[in-house]
Amino acid sequence: MKRREFTRICSTMVAAAAGVAPVAFANDKQSYKKALLFSDSNERLTAASLVVGEPYVFFYPYISTPCFLIDLGVPANRSELADNSGESYEWVGGVGPNNSIVAYSAICSHKMSHPAKEISFINYRHDPISFYSRDGKSEKRAQLISCCSERSVYDPIDGARVLGGPAPQPLAAIALEYDDTTGDLHATGSYGGDMYDRFFDKFGFRAAMEHKVNDPRQLVADKTELQKLSDYSGQTIKC
Ligand code: FES
Repeated sequence: MKRREFTRICSTMVAAAAGVAPVAFANDKQSYKKALLFSDSNERLTAASLVVGEPYVFFYPYISTPCFLIDLGVPANRSELADNSGESYEWVGGVGPNNSIVAYSAICSHKMSHPAKEISFINYRHDPISFYSRDGKSEKRAQLISCCSERSVYDPIDGARVLGGPAPQPLAAIALEYDDTTGDLHATGSYGGDMYDRFFDKFGFRAAMEHKVNDPRQLVADKTELQKLSDYSGQTIKC
């Protein structure tokens, strides 16, 4: 049995034993501390309370590394991708009642544009947008993550695969765990080509100031706040 297949089976068994399902474990997952996604609006945050098509932001696995959480409104199925080095990995698809909830690092794999408090050039577009595919064809499609810095376009239904622009690899995926008895969502890890070290090298100082911490590489503890991108960033650029 291949290591990949063995790991997948083990992950499924662990999930079943814990009484939670379905579980977005990836065979190539880098595990971090399991963190509950919560809202500070006094409302209990559950998968059912998410607004379909609304991009949310949370920070994981570090307190200063932003991620998107999106209910796409349609199921997102498992797929095979490759990172910048050609290493392949399997994205396990969406979670939630309709397998439509996905999470990705919101750090663009091109030059690391990401949501900041003042502005975000990277955004999720539930409505159709026009873009140029990697082979130069003009395309129009909805449900895309679009980075307006240099027009990289990612497909969140397909593991954030790059559809257009200069991005060299998909956005790193965030592993989610959905509890179908409570509706709770947890982040449990990250997989694919992440940009965390490069992000800290380039933006660590600013991230520390933005989050009012000495160490932006501090890992998230047991919970992390989820908020609408439009509430977190003062200006969200759409293209
Ligand atoms: S930083 Fe996103 S396309 Fe350049």
